[in-house]
Amino acid sequence: MAKAMFSETDKINIRWFWNNYMKEKIPWLVVIMVLLIIQGFVYQQFLVYTEDGLRVIFEDGNFWDLVKICGFVIGAFGLRALISYVVPVLSVKIASEAMLKLRGQLIKKVVHLKQGYYDINNSSDLILRMVTQVDGLSQFVGKTTVNAVKDFITIFIVSGYLVYKSAILFITALIVLPLIFFILKSVSGNIKKIQRSAEVVLGAYMTSIDEMASGIRTVKMSGQEETEINRMDYASARIKDLTVRLQKTQALILPSIDLSSAFIFVLVIGGGGYMVLSDHYALDGASIIAFILGMVIIFDPARALSQFFAQMQASLILLESIKLLVDAKDEKTADKDKPAFKADTIDISINDVKFSYMNGSQVFDGISMDFKRGHKTAIVGSTGSGKTTILSLISRLYEVSGGSITFNGQDTRHFRRDSLRSHFSVVAQDVVVFNSSIRENILYANPAASDAQIEEAAKLAHIDTLMHERGDISVGPKGSQLSGGQKQRIAIARAFLRPAPVLILDEATSALDALTEKKVNDAFVELQKGKTTIVVTHKFSSVLDADKIYVIESGHLVEEGIHEELMKSSSLYKSMFEAQMSEEAS
Ligand SMILES: Nc1ncnc2c1ncn2[C@@H]1O[C@H](COP(=O)(O)OP(=O)(O)OP(=O)(O)O)[C@@H](O)[C@H]1O
Ligand SMILES: [Mg+2]
Repeated sequence: MAKAMFSETDKINIRWFWNNYMKEKIPWLVVIMVLLIIQGFVYQQFLVYTEDGLRVIFEDGNFWDLVKICGFVIGAFGLRALISYVVPVLSVKIASEAMLKLRGQLIKKVVHLKQGYYDINNSSDLILRMVTQVDGLSQFVGKTTVNAVKDFITIFIVSGYLVYKSAILFITALIVLPLIFFILKSVSGNIKKIQRSAEVVLGAYMTSIDEMASGIRTVKMSGQEETEINRMDYASARIKDLTVRLQKTQALILPSIDLSSAFIFVLVIGGGGYMVLSDHYALDGASIIAFILGMVIIFDPARALSQFFAQMQASLILLESIKLLVDAKDEKTADKDKPAFKADTIDISINDVKFSYMNGSQVFDGISMDFKRGHKTAIVGSTGSGKTTILSLISRLYEVSGGSITFNGQDTRHFRRDSLRSHFSVVAQDVVVFNSSIRENILYANPAASDAQIEEAAKLAHIDTLMHERGDISVGPKGSQLSGGQKQRIAIARAFLRPAPVLILDEATSALDALTEKKVNDAFVELQKGKTTIVVTHKFSSVLDADKIYVIESGHLVEEGIHEELMKSSSLYKSMFEAQMSEEAS
């Protein structure tokens, strides 16, 4: 039984959950346990009083005895009602606190997950785990399990009393137990399988909604509303199918319990009746009625308990999924024992670096470059040649698979990643703007900055006028209420606001008009003084003054030098440069 219900992984996960979230609640769990046991005894006492009451009625007893018995019954049920209020309040509190702790850990986890995780999983996967699945687990721990324990205790105490009343009769009733176990065992594996698929399908549904909403502009412009509807409909239909399948499997349990219980009642009424009529047993009519009443009392808890096992199988899948996220590799854990990197100026060296993305596509097969302090170094090359990847490797968003990257001669792998990144100010190719005001968006790069500094940065990035115009108004999800160039200028302002020894500009001015671009570039010249500047661009006008230009082509370094040198040879650089000049002239 236990083997079929819990896999090795389940056992590890349950132990983990218990140790981290429930163990510290032991005192409260004991309180709940005691209350539930009291509640179980209330039922048992109810049977005793009922039997006594019946005997008073049958045997023409004293009226006041009857009143006394009724009083006890009311008192007992009043106590039960009080406990019925206290226990759920307590248990939901405990479960919610445990979930608060779990969510807190997940929150810390997800921001430290490696970049590679996000190349594969999207936000809906995290939402599914951190919202839906944690919620499901919370329900299971705070309600379902507590009810199951209550049911179990009721059954245990009442059956104990029934055994005490008549062991033979009770054991006769248990003949059907093996059948129930067999059914539970056979459905539990199935339930797990279906629940696992259901989580995948729910994830797919959420992803399709997420992608539709964030890509609605493309959806509309490409006239793909129907495609999106079909995609979401398909996922939604699969959710329905799996829900029905899950229900069909779970629903096998109840009828089998009901059928067995009919059988039980026949046994008890027949067997009990026989025992009353026969002289060999010390049972009277009142005992048999009380006995049957006892069976009725444990009947509902038994039904509920059998369903609990089905729900538990489904919840184990939730636990498994959440645990996978908890166990995912993150940077913070990996960097725990490493020192922080600290320097005022930095020489960066890339030495014979090899790298492939997780999908296996190799980008670099041994590339070397130098980025010197006080110099502006440019990387040019056709699209997809690996320029952004170099920047990602320098900031250790990904790890090199061969060679090394050094800052001032020290391997970056020996330091904490966050300490390395704190030395960078970056204008990335894909600008990310949050749904807050322009001012707050700029401040994001350096929350400690003063008002005057923000003004200055906004001015240099030519976003100051808009920043004042919009004031505290938010810019919409992902900056949807801004133009591409405005978003880019926010990113540029962030770079100006963040004093750091390394300045990285990845197509930093690609969305700006020529005039604004010129002004921003002039401001950058000032900012670059004394810093290690790395510029990635398609626009050759921004690299004319570079101290060094690297030309890369499908992950290989093909040329290097300054503009004048590269223009002398019949280089790739020269042909790209001339192509752009003639394009601009035409
Ligand atoms: N996260 C990723 N996972 C897998 N492959 C990737 C990933 N990011 C980029 N690539 C691949 O790596 C190669 C280099 O990409 P990279 O972004 O470095 O090019 P790039 O030179 O910056 O191009 P562009 O000028 O278009 O920005 C490309 O073939 C690209 O498809
Ligand atoms: Mg790029």
